[in-house]
Amino acid sequence: MIKISPSVLACDFTRLGEEVEDIRKNGADMVHIDVMDGIFVPNISFGLPVISALRKKSDMIFDVHLMIDRPERYVERFIDAGADIVTFHIEATDCVSETLAKIRARGRLAALSIKPATPAEAVFPYLDECDMILVMTVEPGFGGQSLIPETIDKVRVISEEIKRRHLAVDIQVDGGIGPKNAHLLTKAGANILVAGSSVFGAPDRREAMDAMRVCDA
Ligand code: DX5
Ligand code: ZN
Repeated sequence: MIKISPSVLACDFTRLGEEVEDIRKNGADMVHIDVMDGIFVPNISFGLPVISALRKKSDMIFDVHLMIDRPERYVERFIDAGADIVTFHIEATDCVSETLAKIRARGRLAALSIKPATPAEAVFPYLDECDMILVMTVEPGFGGQSLIPETIDKVRVISEEIKRRHLAVDIQVDGGIGPKNAHLLTKAGANILVAGSSVFGAPDRREAMDAMRVCDA
């Protein structure tokens, strides 16, 4: 089943709680929360207090994407704030296994992400230590960019490896995704689609999400 995780980076921040409630009502499977530190990526979004506040207003699955340097310093605090899925970048840390284990030890789902220039094979050693791989389809840091087509093949390579090893690891994709290209990603093996502008900017958010839940694989 294809799941949609709308990124709140594209929502109206002055109405964050209502925006999250709106996508829940319109059928979102989870909510994608992008945390940027201005070091790992050249942009700053928001952090722990915002997630804690939102947790009090919403019982949705919080899919927290950490674009921060040395995430091992903070994963437990993001779990305390309300994260259900914690994703961090392989490029941001020397302690990949330890950080995945820290997240799993708290009963949360652990996910590893790769930037467009990082080869698919970089995640192979960790596939049986994580619950999800996030393949970035744009350079992390900003919403509203266009998908980089070369990243799609990495989804296929990772999906084949997961199948070959009979693992139950989800593949999430993030950046520049909408109804026009979603099928290319699901066909390659992605099953969780992050979408910011194409959901929050759509006149009918339910229709936009439904249009992406298509798999002609
Ligand atoms: C980019 C973020 C994405 C972004 C997606 O660094 O990780 O989650 O918000 O936004 P769109 O769908 O607008 O590309
Ligand atoms: Zn993201």
